[in-house]
Amino acid sequence: MPTGYTLVPMITEEQIRQRVDSLGRQISEDYSGKELLLICTLKGAVTFAADLARRITVPCEMGYIKAKSYDGSSTTGSVDISFEDFPDIRGRNVIIVEDIIDTGITLERLSRHFKAMSPESLKICAFLDKPSRRKADISADYVGCEIDDFFAVGYGLDHNEQFRSLPYIAELVL
Ligand code: IMP
Ligand code: MG
Repeated sequence: MPTGYTLVPMITEEQIRQRVDSLGRQISEDYSGKELLLICTLKGAVTFAADLARRITVPCEMGYIKAKSYDGSSTTGSVDISFEDFPDIRGRNVIIVEDIIDTGITLERLSRHFKAMSPESLKICAFLDKPSRRKADISADYVGCEIDDFFAVGYGLDHNEQFRSLPYIAELVL
């Protein structure tokens, strides 16, 4: 556990719930009559993906992929992707579910790999988006909240594996 830190609440549980409800409704409308495969990026997006899936009314399968680029509160610039137990996405309607898009490097790599596997369609849903930090040419099709450039924790987001279980989103000030 870091010492001497402050958590500044930024997005409340109620605000999170409203945004997840609205994303679930939008996705359900957009994929009406279709079947969906949500691919949750481990570990940060687990909390969001679990909430989102329960707000989607079309048939929905879930898969998981491990992608790691952060060390503490800075991006390493390289992305480790593990395709262990990865479902066959060929011909399927896939949405990648991410906790946050920061530089965009992780999602740019992931979507390049996914496109090569010939899904029927591929979209990105991120709960948080920090557009001012973008380095890669990528954007999400569905975004929960845009935030300024601060280090966010809670609702699945961590700092060295801490704070993921906070039910709200806070700025971590070290
Ligand atoms: P990107 O490749 O720079 O877009 O970073 C993507 C990954 O870095 C996210 O999926 C998070 O796991 C992590 N990350 C980026 N910004 C934050 C943050 O503010 N708090 C916690 N994790 C973050
Ligand atoms: Mg992540």
